[in-house]
Parts: sequence; structure tokens; C-alpha cells
Amino acid sequence: MQPPKRYLVTSALPYANGPLHIGHLAGAYLSADIYVRFLRLQGKDVVFVCGSDEHGAAITIKAKKEGITPKEVVDKYHSLFEDTFKKIGMSFDIYHRTSAELHHQTSQEIFRTLNDKGEFELKTSEQYYDEEADQFLADRYITGTCPNCSHEEAYGDQCENCGTTLSPTELIDPKSTITGAKPILKETSHWYLPLDKYEAWLKEWVENGVVDGTSLHDPADWKNHVLGQCKSWLDNGLQGRAMTRDLDWGIDVPQELEGAEGKKLYVWMDAPIGYISATKQWAIDNDKDWKPYWQDKETALIHFIGKDNIVFHCLIFPAILKAHGDYILPVNVPANQFLNLEGKKISTSKNWAIWVHEYLEEMPGMEDELRYFMMKSMPESRDSEFTWKAFQEANNNELVNNLANFINRVLVLTKKYYDSVVPEFHEDEVLASAQNSSDESYHDSELLGLFDKLDEMRSFIHKFEFRAALKCMMEISALGNQFLQFNEPWKTIKDDPENVQAVMNLALQYVTALSVVMKPFLPFTSDKLRNMLNLPEVGDGAYLNMMNDLAEGSLILEQGHKLNESAHLFSRIDDSVIQKQLDKLQATATVTEETKSATEENSNGGLKSTISYDDFQKLDIRTAKILEAKKVEGADKLLELTVDLGFEKRTVVSGIAKQFAPDNLKGKKILLLANLAPRKIRGVESNGMILLAEDGSGNLSFVQPEGEFGNGFEVR
Ligand code: 2FM
Ligand code: ZN
Repeated sequence: MQPPKRYLVTSALPYANGPLHIGHLAGAYLSADIYVRFLRLQGKDVVFVCGSDEHGAAITIKAKKEGITPKEVVDKYHSLFEDTFKKIGMSFDIYHRTSAELHHQTSQEIFRTLNDKGEFELKTSEQYYDEEADQFLADRYITGTCPNCSHEEAYGDQCENCGTTLSPTELIDPKSTITGAKPILKETSHWYLPLDKYEAWLKEWVENGVVDGTSLHDPADWKNHVLGQCKSWLDNGLQGRAMTRDLDWGIDVPQELEGAEGKKLYVWMDAPIGYISATKQWAIDNDKDWKPYWQDKETALIHFIGKDNIVFHCLIFPAILKAHGDYILPVNVPANQFLNLEGKKISTSKNWAIWVHEYLEEMPGMEDELRYFMMKSMPESRDSEFTWKAFQEANNNELVNNLANFINRVLVLTKKYYDSVVPEFHEDEVLASAQNSSDESYHDSELLGLFDKLDEMRSFIHKFEFRAALKCMMEISALGNQFLQFNEPWKTIKDDPENVQAVMNLALQYVTALSVVMKPFLPFTSDKLRNMLNLPEVGDGAYLNMMNDLAEGSLILEQGHKLNESAHLFSRIDDSVIQKQLDKLQATATVTEETKSATEENSNGGLKSTISYDDFQKLDIRTAKILEAKKVEGADKLLELTVDLGFEKRTVVSGIAKQFAPDNLKGKKILLLANLAPRKIRGVESNGMILLAEDGSGNLSFVQPEGEFGNGFEVR
């Protein structure tokens, strides 16, 4: 296939309903940024678009929770996103938003075209409705148990636990997220995209890269897990999907259409169109034409997303684009998998996350350190993990000990030996300590080796293998370190100064190459290094020019060039910094859990229904003391306790083995519900129940009588 004439690269539009966390960065943003920055270094024509996704239930639910308007919600997060993305070095050509008028118009035009072409089916069906809130319950307005993985908080459009796309009627035990009420079914009409009709061509496109007999891409270039998810959808048979909703926040269905009143576009219809409207706005701002980027077959359209967005970008949006007729289809959708944090899934509601804006405030000047570790642990083909310890180790062992150390040694030695002027190198010299025995000059052969490594890096990036590309970059630095170590210029400077000139010149060529190829990964560090090298910041085409120079055997840093002052590019991170972050993660997660269980989820703290005084009188709660505790065989949650009630000793089985070690329980004062009917648990008869307080995170605490209170007394 011909190389593309231009590229249009998109990163998923984040919902403007909460700050960005590291999982976002790992999903749809950093890899896209590296890819685009590398294309620019190769002098390619590329436009990189993103923006805030400001419609849908995600926004209105947040507004309701916070007691503000949806507009206030999106304004707040849109500006936070803009700021955060900029600070972490995302190089979007435009960061747009879906509340923009241009986006509303663009979405309506596309909707209208599809409608005029008869691509939609208008259907009336019964949908869940919350009578209390007087609202239909689509998407995130409804939760229930996922039929796929049994996760109890799956949404009406998707289960965030297993990633399955759902419709509300598939949920087991559905309830309204607005009032908690059990919904009723009520008739409503909507515009459906008949995905079943497109199934044949979508299958041919996904599986063979062919549409209407033309080969558009090679499916072997797509990630396995992306193809796998698409194939599983296609194998299960596609069904029509409503492209409109009964909502009051979103893009109006074109009002001239019959039945449009009160109907809005489905957020997954309008959000990907956001890529188009962003490109339009970019074209307006830069006096360009947007159309070739979306309508010319020689453009490569690439969507960077997280795995939960695969179906929308690989099936639904392509179906919309093709049904419209004027648009190209994506040539690849290199979705990433999920990033976990310290052994658990990242969770916004549980505050189990590293919020990017907080990281930027708490670790100032350490943008590239985060970028580096996120890329090193990018969930490219399987879920991966962020731990603060691994972050610290990568920084200290790789950025400090390898990369910064090499660059610093070279610049410091150049200052010491040559007053920071790039030493001359004579082509006919043979290095005294030459490692090869060929006729080629050692210097030349080393530069060719560098060329190969740089080319290998490029090919990894084109295959969306960013971890491998990053490794290549670090190998260049490691090779440089080995080269210095092998030649030991600090030992030979007196006896063999000519040779040291050649060694240092070559080391400086390595440093210069690093300053170019680190730009996509570590843009802030590249700028700092270029300043130390007294060179302009790495610009468009820099990689291409460098490779041309190297291929011709030319130097990429001129002899006689004067360098600026150098400084360390990275510093070690102390244990205390890491511990502080770990403590914060634990502390804020717990607070949120408690707050959440007491406020957000149940505004009445989850109180059970009222009981009578007589009901209460039936409970016989006694003060008691634990005498013995041991594990119940074959049950990892259960402890068998012998309890002293003063007037008798009892056996009680309690599900607290995960929280308490048996040895710590002897002598503990407790309260026991003493008249609970006996129950056999794992073959052991339990006579009563120990009273425990539980917070929202599953932490348990005994409820105890104060001081030296005797056993067997009544609690009233
Ligand atoms: O999952 C999400 O965060 C969505 N807001 C992504 C939208 S991507 C695109 F289609 F706009
Ligand atoms: Zn699920």
C-alpha cells in the first residue's frame, strides 16, 4: 500500500464530568501524542485533534449530584482538561469541545444526511422509565447487574467492569440512578441505525480490510484484542441501535423532522463527530481546508482510544461515516487496554486514582518522569499496572542512572577537555581502542549502528509498539554509556588526546540523536537538552534530516560548535516522596468511600425501614469477652470464637478472618446479639452474632463496652 499523503489522528474525547487520571493518559492520550510527534519529526502532514465530550448522562448526572447546571459542569472540566493536557505535554493541534455551535451544526448535518438517505429506521418500542423523575432511563441513567460478568453497577449502555456494551433491557435487576426506583416500561420513538444491515460490509472491512472490493488496510496491522472484540460483536450478530434519546441536554435532533421535539442525539452519535468538527475549527483557525483530512482516500485516519470505546470506533462510527458516504474510514484503531493502580482497578467513585492535575501540582517539573513511566508500563496489548515503587525505580535506575548520567558525563567531559566546544574528528584516524577490525573507520561504523537503532525505533512507532520504541531510545543511551566505559577517555586524555577527541565527538553525536528522538517521549527534557547543546528546539522534519545526514555519513553535531552550560536532566526520587503519595492514595480513598456511603449513594445513610419498639425489645444484646479464636477449616473468611457471657460460654462463628488474626482477639471485650437462632456454618454451630461497625471500605471495628465492664450484662 502507498504511504499516506497525510494523517488525521484523534484521541478519545474525555467526558467533561471529572478530572483526568493516569488511566486516561495510558488509554488514549500519551501513545497518540508520541505517534503524532514522531510523524511531525518525519516531516509528515498530520493534524491531531481532541476535545471535551460534553453531552450525555455522564454530564447531567454529575450536575445533579453537585447541584449545578450541566453547562457549569462542562465549563469547569473543559478548562481543567485544557490546562492539564497542556501541562503534561499533549501536542493537540486543537482541543475543541462538543458544546461548540460548530459541533452542533456538524452533528445535525450528518444526522440530516443519514435521515434523508433513508439510513435510519424510526421505531417505537418500550423503554425503561422512572415515574418519580418523569424521565426515560437510557445509558447511565440506569444501572443493574451485568449479564456478562455479574458486576452489580453496570450502566445501561456499558459495563465498566468487563467493557461489554449493553442496552438497558439486558441489565438484571435494573434501577434508576436518579431516584433508585425500579423502572416501568413505557413507549417511545427513536431513530435507529440498522447495524444489522451493515453487518456484511463491516465484517469484510474488519476481517479483511476490504470495502466494496478495495483494500483499505491490512488487518494484520491491527491489535489482536481490537480485532477480537470486533469479531465477537460481529459473530454475535449486530442489532439496530437508537441514535436519539429523550433528554433535555445534548444536541437537538433537527427540529424540522417529524417527532423531533424533546429528542436529542445519542452521545455516541455526536461524540465521534466531534473529531470532524474539531478538524473544521482547526482549519478555520489556520486558514486550511478540513475536507482532505476526512474525505481524501490518501489520508490515514487513526483513532487512539481505550478498550471500552472499541465498538464505537470500529463498528458504529465507521457505519455512520460509510452511511453518510463522503467520509473515509479509520485505517487503524490502536486501542489500549486498562491500567491498574497499586493492584486495584482505577476507580473514580472510590477515588482510587492518581489525578493528573494533582500530580502536576505535587511533583512540579516532573512531567516527563510521569510520561516516561506511563509509556514504559503502557497497557498496549494487556492490562498493566502503575505502582509508585515501580515509578520510583524507573526514574532512579533508568532516567537518572542511564539517560541523565550518559548525557551529563558527555557534556561535563566536553567542558573539561574542550571548554564545551565539539572536538574535531579526523576521518582517517583509527581509534586506539577500536572494537571492530573491519576497514571501516570505527566512528563511521558506530554512526551506522546508531542509524539502525534509530530506524528500528521508527518501525516500532509505526507498528504502535511504543514500549519497544522507548526501549530502543534507552538502549541508545545505554550503548553510549558502555562506549564511554569501554574507552575510558578520563584515563587516556593525557596519553592519547587524538583518540579521546574521536571518542567524545562520537558520544556527542549520540547525545544529539537522543535529543531528537526523545522529543516525542520526553518533550520537556528534549527542549532542556537542546538548550544545553545550544541547538534550536527539535522541529518538524528533524528526524528525517538527521537520518539523511547519518545515511550520508555526515555528522549531526558540527565540529567546533560551542555548547551551553549543562545540568542534570533528572534527579533521584526519595522513598519519602513515594511514601507520601502512597499514604495519600490510601487516605483519600477511604475518606471518599465513607463519604460516598453516607452521602452520595444513600442520602439517608442507607437506613433500613423503621421497626417498632417491640421489635427492638426482641433483641437480646449482651456484653461479653472473647476467650479463644481459631480459623474454621476450609473457610478463609471465618473464625470460630469461644465467648464468655458471664453465665455461660458460647461458640460463635464470625466472618472476620480477613480483618483480624485469631491471636489478637483473645480477651477482647465485645457486644453479642445473644438470642439469635443457632445456625450451622461449615459444620460449626454458631450461637449469636458479634456486633461490628463497618465503614464503606470494608474496614471492621468491634463495638465495645467501655472500661472494665463485666460480661453478660444487657445492652438497652
Ligand atoms: O469514554 C469516554 O470517555 C468517551 N467520552 C469517549 C468518547 S470518544 C469519541 F467518540 F468522542
Ligand atoms: Zn460486566
